[in-house]
Amino acid sequence: MRYDESTIEQVREANDIVDVVGQYVRLTKKGANYFGLCPFHGEKTASFSVSPRKQIYYCFGCGAGGNVISFLMEYENYSFQESLKALADRAHIDLPEPKGGSEDRGAKELKRQLLDIHKDAAMYYYRQLQTPEGAAGYRYFSSQRRLSDATITHFGLGFAPKSADALYRYLKEKGWSDEVISASGLVTIQETKIHDKFWNRVMFPIMDTNSRVIGFGGRVMGDGVPKYLNSPETLIFDKSAHLYGLNFARRSRRKYMLLCEGYMDVIALHQAGFTNAVASLGTAFNEKHARLQKRYTDVVILTQDSDDAGINAKLRAYPILYDAGIQTKVLDMSPYKDPDEFIRAEGPDAYETCIRKAKNAFIFMIEVLKKQYDLSDPAEKTAFYNGVADRLCMFREPLERGNYIDSVSHEFMIPKDELRALVDRRIEERGAGIRYDDMNGRPRMTEGQGRSSQGAYPAMRPAGTGVSDTARPKEVPISVQQNEKLIVSWICERPDLGRYIFQHIRPEDLQTEIYREIASDVREHPNHFDAASFLDRCGEDDEKRKAAAAVFAELDTGTPLDEMSRTDLEKGLTEAVRHVLKANIDTKITNCRDASELGQLLQEKNKLGSFRITIS
Ligand code: UTP
Ligand code: MN
Repeated sequence: MRYDESTIEQVREANDIVDVVGQYVRLTKKGANYFGLCPFHGEKTASFSVSPRKQIYYCFGCGAGGNVISFLMEYENYSFQESLKALADRAHIDLPEPKGGSEDRGAKELKRQLLDIHKDAAMYYYRQLQTPEGAAGYRYFSSQRRLSDATITHFGLGFAPKSADALYRYLKEKGWSDEVISASGLVTIQETKIHDKFWNRVMFPIMDTNSRVIGFGGRVMGDGVPKYLNSPETLIFDKSAHLYGLNFARRSRRKYMLLCEGYMDVIALHQAGFTNAVASLGTAFNEKHARLQKRYTDVVILTQDSDDAGINAKLRAYPILYDAGIQTKVLDMSPYKDPDEFIRAEGPDAYETCIRKAKNAFIFMIEVLKKQYDLSDPAEKTAFYNGVADRLCMFREPLERGNYIDSVSHEFMIPKDELRALVDRRIEERGAGIRYDDMNGRPRMTEGQGRSSQGAYPAMRPAGTGVSDTARPKEVPISVQQNEKLIVSWICERPDLGRYIFQHIRPEDLQTEIYREIASDVREHPNHFDAASFLDRCGEDDEKRKAAAAVFAELDTGTPLDEMSRTDLEKGLTEAVRHVLKANIDTKITNCRDASELGQLLQEKNKLGSFRITIS
């Protein structure tokens, strides 16, 4: 799903960045820009700046930067689409259908209807709690599960009565066709037999990240089986792609998320103030879940049940989270079974203490492993050490691996040098990045590595030739980056200077990718380079920040460009461009294998001594 550029631009232009940011941050005007306390990191002096002319923001403290769309994405944890939608609504713009959608109209229409029918069903179940028949459901939630009325409303909890087709009749009254009702999965319609899927159960609506109901879980009020019945997968409900509670958790201001197992755990945690708790819905945690979490957080604390199933769930989730770039910790709730029971018995403060004490997930994994061995037996002890070494191979970066070797050897009293030797031998044989799906599982390779069925281990890759070692772009020296940034900031600020600069240096000559891109954009549109629109096209957050920093650089060069004398300007430009050109020639000289070419390069370098940029 993509909107075309002109739509994005229209929405952006209708929302002045100073107004929008001003709704969240108190801004004061200073010179051409506005300043305020950065909402993205704690600070006491205002280093967060907003440029009304360029329609971008940049924080000199933490480097956050972007345009009005990315501001909402960062502040509200919105996706691009959500941010665009919010801004369009704010400016009363009707967004056209996004282009490039491959779904046909019919499927899209059905999706919309399914969302609507789920909304109706959720309302129906919710209202049942207030009927005499639903009193049992209400009592279950409030007395047995200790949920407040506010919590019941917040999560939209409900009740499915003891009736074969009460929901069906309600939905018919609302005008829904059998076709849509059937597609919702909430009612089974076979010939003349019609019955509601949920019968005499308390109901948990499942919401997507935008708080739209996409399915239900229903629990028996006693000990019946199945304990929970869930909606089947439908056009709008893909269990493997949703986390229960994420619609609330994503707005939590906490720096981490809690991952638990059940509906009730999420609800109990939220009620106790831990509004950053989510659960995968009766399905194993997977890569999609991890990517979803990564959109909102960098740290996940595992708080699945304390039983064996819960321990296995943690051991399985950890490598998946690790692959998604999420730091993982494990919380110990023993002797309680799950967060719901823990909170009820010990209260929120005790749980907060557990969070503070949460353990590194790798150390947890080794602890679990250790329990399987009798370390007084030399053979078992050796097996344990080998198991530890196997697991340490999951870290690709030597530094990270080294840190884990240090801490594991210390924690489990394994002689460090020996452990290191065991690990090194494995890395030599198989390469880093091998990991275990679970404690007893076979090792598997992480993405991007070949899979082969030879022997116990997949195809090996020699150590030190991993993607991260070879594909990583060469580091651009800081001095070159700084000068390139200066050049770019000047041409952004004064596109007319491009005329003088581009005579001597082409955008392609810049080594820093993002500066190269900005420069060529300016060269292509010298009279209407639009910083805010450029930022829309930046992919990574990191790029966005760097670009915003460059475009904002006039502020950290001291004197604003407009106030610089022509000679100062010429001098500054000359020095920056010369530095970059010289660095380029130096690189070529280092790599040169040809004598005549070398002579030429040295001559070029000599000429730089008299290099000048003059502005007429
Ligand atoms: P639990 O049995 O741990 O659930 O299953 P819970 O939330 O602690 O249940 P309470 O406290 O007894 O009410 C964890 C999750 O697994 C799914 C549900 O999503 C549940 O929340 N599950 C469990 C099912 O889908 N079906 C079942 O029969 C049981
Ligand atoms: Mn429970």
